Amino acid sequence: MTDVTRYLDGRTLILLSNREPYEHLAGSEGVHVRQPPGGLVSALDPTMRRMSGTWVAWGSGSADRETADEVGRLGVPPFEPRYTLRRVWLSEDDIEGYYLGFANTALWPLCHLLIQHFEFHREHWECYQQINARFAKAVYEESLRAKSTPQVWVQDYHFALVPAEIRRLAPDIFIHHFWHIPFPPPDMLRLLPTGVPAALLRGLLGNDLIEFHTDRYAHNFLNCVREFVPEAQVRGESLRVSVDGRQVVLGSFPISIDVESFERLALSEESDARASALRQRYARGGRALGVSVDRVDYTKGIPERLRALDRLWQESPELRERFTMIVVATPSRTELAPYKNLENEMLATVRDINTRYGTQDWEPIVLVHENVHAELLAAIYRAADLCLVSSLQDGMNLVAKEFVAARDDEQGVLILSQFAGASRELPEALVVNPYDADQCAAALQVALTMPADEQHDRMRFMRGVVREFNVYRWAGRMLLDAAVLRQRGRFRAADTIAGHG
Ligand code: ADP
Ligand code: F6P
Repeated sequence: MTDVTRYLDGRTLILLSNREPYEHLAGSEGVHVRQPPGGLVSALDPTMRRMSGTWVAWGSGSADRETADEVGRLGVPPFEPRYTLRRVWLSEDDIEGYYLGFANTALWPLCHLLIQHFEFHREHWECYQQINARFAKAVYEESLRAKSTPQVWVQDYHFALVPAEIRRLAPDIFIHHFWHIPFPPPDMLRLLPTGVPAALLRGLLGNDLIEFHTDRYAHNFLNCVREFVPEAQVRGESLRVSVDGRQVVLGSFPISIDVESFERLALSEESDARASALRQRYARGGRALGVSVDRVDYTKGIPERLRALDRLWQESPELRERFTMIVVATPSRTELAPYKNLENEMLATVRDINTRYGTQDWEPIVLVHENVHAELLAAIYRAADLCLVSSLQDGMNLVAKEFVAARDDEQGVLILSQFAGASRELPEALVVNPYDADQCAAALQVALTMPADEQHDRMRFMRGVVREFNVYRWAGRMLLDAAVLRQRGRFRAADTIAGHG
């Protein structure tokens, strides 16, 4: 078992993300707690449970204030506290400008190369700057409370400006930043008004270490720095930048999941019973069962996936009534028009496919349009014969890794988009271009007829990778690099640190 705390050398970790790991919601039966869906929480909650420290995040739940103290602090997980959550409160206007606005209407589409959804509004950018300063202050306050030397770990595109602001408040603090989504090439950042790309990049250059999923994203970052930050010196071969008399080191660290606890969930008797019930219901009479799991987000390629399924049943009528697809799709960012439109399009297309091909005895697509708890998710993965991940762009995609982790039977076929970061680590999947409906339909055909031996060989390789590079190894490698950098002093960061991925 990787001891992730070892590399902290007794320091207190202060983690910052927009999304909180536990959200309290007021419902008709009182207050309940839930984990918001998304790769960031799935990966970081298990990590923080082992490292303790403090997680600073937006308090987004309707009952969050009444479940925290006057400063917004509480111990989590709620029934077995292992670390502190410090909630920061945002007004409706803050959420609109900073989160829905600049983060999710400007940065998210640019980073995912889906510029048809890109909009820039100056007031959103101003709000993003203010809120970044507010979160930087909250992190700084937590650093003053820390019982030992603090180390700050910033997460994602919501907080590009935070590192430089914390550096201003506390010049000697060690700051690193994991960027959970793709980092775009300069042509994308150039769509932002003059001055904005440089401000974002200078903010990020406040870090000592910047962490990406892949080398490609790190090189995109360096190309952006070359283009927009003239005072910085880029050393591409060693993935470093010299700026303001400091060295900023870059590295690639593919994120992962807590494989052991996912396996435990998947292998429980309860999960077995659930998986059998699912097969009984949707795969009876020798039918095959497919699954997809995501937030309803335009990066996930949901319409493209439905098009491929339509093509499959259209061109291979013998597969009608022989193959059922469970689509687990949790609503996400529904306040934004592109997300609402996507949801409506998904609902209409599923209805249309089910009407055209469905029979009295068979529903081609079973849509689970809600957040599903982890135990059920694990059972669905186990019940399925194939899992289809069709992201148009995806930093990593943890669903692919969860499917593999759930399959200790070494059966099941993963069909994986070439545009998901996970495809680099899992080439034994059937790797597809999600824009090519014919290729995806053909991959579905191959999956449905793949001999058990071949499934076994492919799954065994993938399980080897996922089990070896679990989320603790991911966190451990970053903390180790951070420790080496700290020891050498940030002015003398060595070449050997960077870019092993
Ligand atoms: P992203 O971070 O963009 O949402 P990932 O695939 O990396 O994409 O991570 C998604 C995480 O959220 C996974 O851990 C997955 O199990 C979880 N998730 C996605 N959809 C649902 C859902 N409908 N119900 C519960 N969890 C979900
Ligand atoms: O993994 C990328 C990410 O944007 C995370 O930062 C986030 O928690 C997750 O997707 C889900 O999105 P949101 O927090 O906007 O619901």
